[in-house]
Amino acid sequence: MKKIVLFASGNGSNAENIIRYFKDNPLLSIVGVFANNPQAKVLEKAKNHKVTTFVFDKNDLENGLVLEKLKPLQPDLIVLAGFLLKFPEHLIAAFPHKIINIHPALLPKYGGKGMYGMHVHKAILENQEKETGITIHYVNEQYDEGEFIFQTSVNIENCKTPEAIAAKVHQLEHEHFPEVIEKLLTSYF
Ligand code: GAR
Repeated sequence: MKKIVLFASGNGSNAENIIRYFKDNPLLSIVGVFANNPQAKVLEKAKNHKVTTFVFDKNDLENGLVLEKLKPLQPDLIVLAGFLLKFPEHLIAAFPHKIINIHPALLPKYGGKGMYGMHVHKAILENQEKETGITIHYVNEQYDEGEFIFQTSVNIENCKTPEAIAAKVHQLEHEHFPEVIEKLLTSYF
């Protein structure tokens, strides 16, 4: 049985979609949802699916408490699904090549500090981009610079608001993220 831990900061539509996708899979299991915000809607979603949750703050992430909580879970993969804090180096070192992130744009464009969630979609609209997409990548010490695993794009010429772009990107994320995770965990990586 391969074990997955999800990290999320807000709504958690990706986290819930991943939980649903693996619900009846005997080989892969979601063993925890970690959230850095007690108000995050993802917590209620995880509880509805009977997935264990852990709430922490920025300090806990940096001072080792999150690592202590993660270790006994022995995750095969840590998935940042809408997680908006920088993942600290000691955690990256503790789980080498086992942490992946989804970014709501076609990296290396629209990545880096401050480029997350709606900020990304606003910048893309302002620049009148014709397309955007998603990037799933390994997490390393630099924001959004780890090795790419998967990218796909979508046309946004008819999108007039950042929300419209976000909706298209979410659709792509929900369609592809669980499958990419499944492939990673069922083949050597
Ligand atoms: C997703 O679009 C994800 O790509 C993005 O946050 C959103 C969370 O949505 N992540 C980042 O911007 C990370 N830099 P969700 O809470 O509905 O899954």
